[in-house]
Amino acid sequence: MAVRPAAGLHGELVPGGTRDQGGRSRTRRLDRRLATRDGDTLLDLAGNDYLGLTDHAEVILGATTAARAYGGGAGASRLISGILPVHDQLKDALAELLGASSALVFSTGYHANLGAVTALGGADILIVSDAHIHASLNDAARLSGAQVAVAGHSDATEVERMLGARSQPRAMIVVESIYSVLGDAAPLKLDEIARRPRTGAHRKPWAVPGQRRHPR
Ligand SMILES: Cc1ncc(COP(=O)(O)O)c(C=O)c1O
Repeated sequence: MAVRPAAGLHGELVPGGTRDQGGRSRTRRLDRRLATRDGDTLLDLAGNDYLGLTDHAEVILGATTAARAYGGGAGASRLISGILPVHDQLKDALAELLGASSALVFSTGYHANLGAVTALGGADILIVSDAHIHASLNDAARLSGAQVAVAGHSDATEVERMLGARSQPRAMIVVESIYSVLGDAAPLKLDEIARRPRTGAHRKPWAVPGQRRHPR
């Protein structure tokens, strides 16, 4: 959600699509229209630009400078045409910001989820996911080849029960820090459950993304 000052261009979602001669709607869709609104403060509840970076002067300057230097597009993915120094600079800057040893950059949240969950998943893993995770995480869990169990929203007791009943040697809990549609946060108890060593047949602890401290 971004609060935008009145001056400048704002995105508006308006009913779009095509109509027949009688004015009846033939196809339905939402069109994004850029409009200037003087004297108004607009509250954008439709986008993911939570930090308002779309309108940030430094971001706009960076984007236009990059377009002049590199053109309007990459021309091809890094896999095909190689890595530019700016890719590494971005990764290094993000790693420093996060206090991490390295970082990976994906072009969309969908791809980030797909990359992370499929890298960690596999046939020997149980994914216990929250009923309200983003659709991209559901796709990722399915693509990873893992068995998936869906727990009720923020139901730590059910997560614990599903983990306890698993036959797989490893498990992964997939939740969101803040659920973007509901606006609530995942219970902290899940973190404690994830770190708890397992008693019984498989004594290995659950896999915690980015914090695997034990060998498989
Ligand atoms: C938790 C979560 N994951 C992934 C996405 C998808 O991100 P993108 O639209 O950048 O692919 C969203 C988008 O709202 C999200 O909230």
